[in-house]
Amino acid sequence: MTENQKWWMNTTVYQIYPRSFKDSTGNGIGDLRGIINKLDYLKDLGIETVWFSPFFESPQRDHGYDISNFRDIAPEYGTMQDFDHLLKEMHDRDMKMVCDFVLNHSSIDHPWFIDSASSKDNPKRDWYIWRDGKKPGGKKPPNNWKTMKGFDPAWMYFENTDQWVYFHFLPSMIDLNYRNPEVKEEMFNTMRFWLDKGVDGFRLDILHAIYEDEQLRDDKFTFQILPSDKNTAALFRRHKYDLNLPETFNFAMDLRKVMDEYTDPERFLIGEVVGTIEEMRKYYGPNNNGLHTTFLFEFTSTSPSFKPEKIAEVISRIEKALPHPYTPTYVYGNHDRSRYISFLKNKIDKAKILATLQLTLRGIPFIYYGEEIGMHNTMFKLKTSEDPIGRKYAMFPIPQLTSLIGVSLTRDGCRTPMQWNDEHNAGFSPNKNVKTWLKIPDSYKKINVKSENDDPNSLLNCYKRLFKIRRDNSALQERKLEFIELGKFSQKCLAYKRIHETQLLYIFLNFSDRSLELPSLKENPKLIFSTIYSKSRLEIDSNNNSFKLDSYEGIIFK
Ligand code: GLC
Repeated sequence: MTENQKWWMNTTVYQIYPRSFKDSTGNGIGDLRGIINKLDYLKDLGIETVWFSPFFESPQRDHGYDISNFRDIAPEYGTMQDFDHLLKEMHDRDMKMVCDFVLNHSSIDHPWFIDSASSKDNPKRDWYIWRDGKKPGGKKPPNNWKTMKGFDPAWMYFENTDQWVYFHFLPSMIDLNYRNPEVKEEMFNTMRFWLDKGVDGFRLDILHAIYEDEQLRDDKFTFQILPSDKNTAALFRRHKYDLNLPETFNFAMDLRKVMDEYTDPERFLIGEVVGTIEEMRKYYGPNNNGLHTTFLFEFTSTSPSFKPEKIAEVISRIEKALPHPYTPTYVYGNHDRSRYISFLKNKIDKAKILATLQLTLRGIPFIYYGEEIGMHNTMFKLKTSEDPIGRKYAMFPIPQLTSLIGVSLTRDGCRTPMQWNDEHNAGFSPNKNVKTWLKIPDSYKKINVKSENDDPNSLLNCYKRLFKIRRDNSALQERKLEFIELGKFSQKCLAYKRIHETQLLYIFLNFSDRSLELPSLKENPKLIFSTIYSKSRLEIDSNNNSFKLDSYEGIIFK
């Protein structure tokens, strides 16, 4: 295979949050069999790869990101047979499966941790990071490190052994110690366990947190308060000594070696890492021998932007930092971030513009379940939040900051059950009387798969048409993207070409509420897509050689 043909470079990925996709048993929680029943929906939509948030055994304190057995399925989601069945059904449909792999930590309920905490001389003691407290007395944490989401120390005290254990995220999830070769070996063998079954790749959860400074040096103060995707500092603390260590960049190459043991088909690694673009590049390895790619969160809801110039600036930066054969990713949302459509005041025509952008750029588009039908972000109370992060901030004076600054204090709002139809429980559960694990917002009556399927001008059908166009046109899968200079229109419109040896496509996106008369770039342009379903050809004004783009219209022509 040439660099150009690797399957993951051109694929389209859909993220399923298993708890919320489809319930087959009627208990109000999604499960694997439910997903199997909906694979035809995904296939018909045009999805080629599915990334599943974790469905492994877990006490579900962080809904699966707290794993208590890395090699089995959580009973509420099904059995290992269900998993095998799901994988087979996906492969039969020529779809790839990417599993979430949470290497950084295990649940506090994992038998490894229970052993490790039991005594200082337990063989599993060194599987986690235990240290004495600060002298004198040892009753203060070993250093000033803070958790990822708060002002609280990243250390928990255990009286029985008079030592502290390190955790980066929540006290229910304890960091594994990758300086211990046994841990590394066990986790690499766990990867092989799933790869042997046929899993096509892994999404690596908070990979940037794998290693910590061996000397446990204190992190310095900074004025930065809010977290950002460009830099790991937050809440007045730098994270120089607990994130993005050189050892972690090397670890990415070790992971790749495990993946490269599998060649038919090649397997895929994508990292959830946060840092500067230079730090992110290091995860790809000096010779592209690290992760295949990382998430680029520039367009997620924490930095909402509906401005063509800003978007062009971000894309240019990404193109420059990750030229071919590096593959960028374009992500608008996931299970941690507020749904982007709510930042667009739930406006469908605007969402169609962003969908057109995402599916015509170079790189891998990630679509979060429900995004294709325009599911909204929902407000939930912090006190009763299912998400432990929400409960952690329950005392916060402002209940939700979502719409103000793009930070949501509970992630429940983007995790509500998939809206399949307008019947009670939105067709999510076969049991109409069950209380679903998160309340389904009333919007399901209008925003649901069934009604949007029947409407040719719906967001769902716009996505479907885009997936098909992406698949059928080699220019959309190739490496070249060139911006088109628009002069005075550049504050309203974004335009670029996608170039392949045998095909040239033009993409124009009107971000303004006015129609535009734009200079025609070629004679007899042939329209192959418009976000306006009923439009079948471009309106050309031959007098001044221009064409008309309606307000909030996105088009592709050749
Ligand atoms: C990642 C996951 C998030 C989880 C956290 C801890 O950021 O996306 O959902 O809570 O890691 O595993």
